[in-house]
Amino acid sequence: MPPDVDPAVGRGDVRQAGINPNHWYAVARSSEVTGQPHGVTLWNEPIVLFRTHDQTLHALADRCPHRFVKLSRGAVVDDTLECAYHGWRVDATGQIADIPYLESQQKVPNCQVRSFPVREQDGFIWVFPGDATLAASREPLAIPEWQHLNYIATVSVIDCEAHFSFLIENLMDMYHGHLHQDYQAWADPKLEVLEADGDRVEARYQAQSYYRIDKIWSISQLFFPSLRRLHPERLTVSYPYPNWTSTLGDDFKIYCLFSPTHATRTRAYLIHFTSLNAFHRLHKLPDGFRRFVKDSLFGSAQKLLDGLVEQDVAMLEDEQVAYLKQPTPPRELNRALISVQRLIQQQVAQ
Ligand code: FES
Ligand SMILES: [Fe+2]
Repeated sequence: MPPDVDPAVGRGDVRQAGINPNHWYAVARSSEVTGQPHGVTLWNEPIVLFRTHDQTLHALADRCPHRFVKLSRGAVVDDTLECAYHGWRVDATGQIADIPYLESQQKVPNCQVRSFPVREQDGFIWVFPGDATLAASREPLAIPEWQHLNYIATVSVIDCEAHFSFLIENLMDMYHGHLHQDYQAWADPKLEVLEADGDRVEARYQAQSYYRIDKIWSISQLFFPSLRRLHPERLTVSYPYPNWTSTLGDDFKIYCLFSPTHATRTRAYLIHFTSLNAFHRLHKLPDGFRRFVKDSLFGSAQKLLDGLVEQDVAMLEDEQVAYLKQPTPPRELNRALISVQRLIQQQVAQ
């Protein structure tokens, strides 16, 4: 146990743990927020995202100040959010901007819709649900591969009826490759190094990979299983709270951006990058062509990623149902998961 761990931490039930709100959370893909308001939920808090005419993004509590219906059911009109019900308008700061039937002797009610710090970075929209004064001192998880011309991205959305702790434990426990044998993602994992502190857990496994992306046509291994050959690779999984990252050898990098919506429901974005770093000739070509290659191959691992997600979600939902029926702690042998549970509890206690 790291020396700074409070002995009381870890005794609570991790399946009922809350989130530490003083982090940036990815709540939507940039492409999901266009001209109309977009409603999301982050840990029981409905939030509406919308853009003003200059494309600046705003995040407000999704609650009309009049009768508390969702503002996301309305429309963006003249850089304000117009509620669907009676047409009250709220500006980007959360102030009431207009009430269409206000009589001359009536005053605009004094109320303010809560606004949240929001950022757009690496293809995602990030919200800071905690103490807004801390937002500037923290950064969303950096995903440099999103823009980098040497990486091909695939995104799969995870929506599961389970507490987020089940999902992060799944992602940190590489012994569950057993579940994915038909997809041939990795094999023979062995946990070798485990590091943990109050901000992250990192587990390093020795494993075998089916893929080696060293020739341009190696990408076809993603589609044709017969081209795959097992070989040893390092498999590292990290939990830089509240998100997850992983590398398999030099060829693959995967992120999971957590957006826990409720105590028994979790959304997350799984982003898989295939590296083109090994193709030195490709790097000498004009950037426009490299961008074309990157964009044309976007989603090339979609079938694989969606298939893995579907298998995992079934397990997580089973675990949640079993927990609700009888909250018996599992018989866990992977010590990485003990560190994960401890980190969740430490973060909530902060
Ligand atoms: S509830 Fe929104 S305008 Fe009335
Ligand atoms: Fe999995």
